[in-house]
Amino acid sequence: MKVSIIVATSLNHAIGKDNQLLWHLPADLKFFKTTTMGCPVIMGRKTFQSIGRTLPGRQNVVITRDKNFNADKQFDLTVVGSIDEALVKLHAENEVFIIGGGEIYKQSIDSADTIYITLVHTVIDGDVYFPEIDKSKFDLVWEEKHFADEKNKFDFTFQKFERK
Ligand SMILES: NC(=O)c1ccc[n+]([C@@H]2O[C@H](COP(=O)([O-])OP(=O)(O)OC[C@H]3O[C@@H](n4cnc5c(N)ncnc54)[C@H](OP(=O)(O)O)[C@@H]3O)[C@@H](O)[C@H]2O)c1
Repeated sequence: MKVSIIVATSLNHAIGKDNQLLWHLPADLKFFKTTTMGCPVIMGRKTFQSIGRTLPGRQNVVITRDKNFNADKQFDLTVVGSIDEALVKLHAENEVFIIGGGEIYKQSIDSADTIYITLVHTVIDGDVYFPEIDKSKFDLVWEEKHFADEKNKFDFTFQKFERK
């Protein structure tokens, strides 16, 4: 099973504030959807609540210490107590995506085979940050720059890192 992280960060590694994203970039949302479609997505409880709904076409896995989370089955979720429990449960999958947020990225970056970063070309304050990628462990294998337009306010670069 391949473990992939997918994230959008500012130049100063900010990823969120007040449990929200820091920008609205439809081109990045489309990239996220295309890249993750059909694969399980693993997220922290706060990220799930920030999205507010399940992501269609993907098994939604939420990590929480709350044993009663989604006990009323309001959402179609797989609820687990740790990242390891998620990865054990999903071991038969070809690829799984860790989709945030900050706590979950920090705890999973050492298990990731691939990291997809959308680097948003702005410096912005956040209250949640993405950890530094150790370049001695990961190679940049692909990148594609896009310029701001009427729908996407910032320039951004899609990057893909693979573990050496
Ligand atoms: N830019 C991006 O690409 C991107 C992507 C995703 C999210 N975000 C942003 O990131 C922010 C949310 O990140 P966050 O760090 O605050 O929260 P988070 O990582 O989404 O979720 C944290 C929660 O996950 C659970 N958790 C964490 N570690 C655990 C462990 N070892 N065992 C069991 N449960 C564990 C806990 O849930 P309980 O408290 O329920 O126990 C914890 O409160 C938001 O601003 C969001 O918009 C940005």
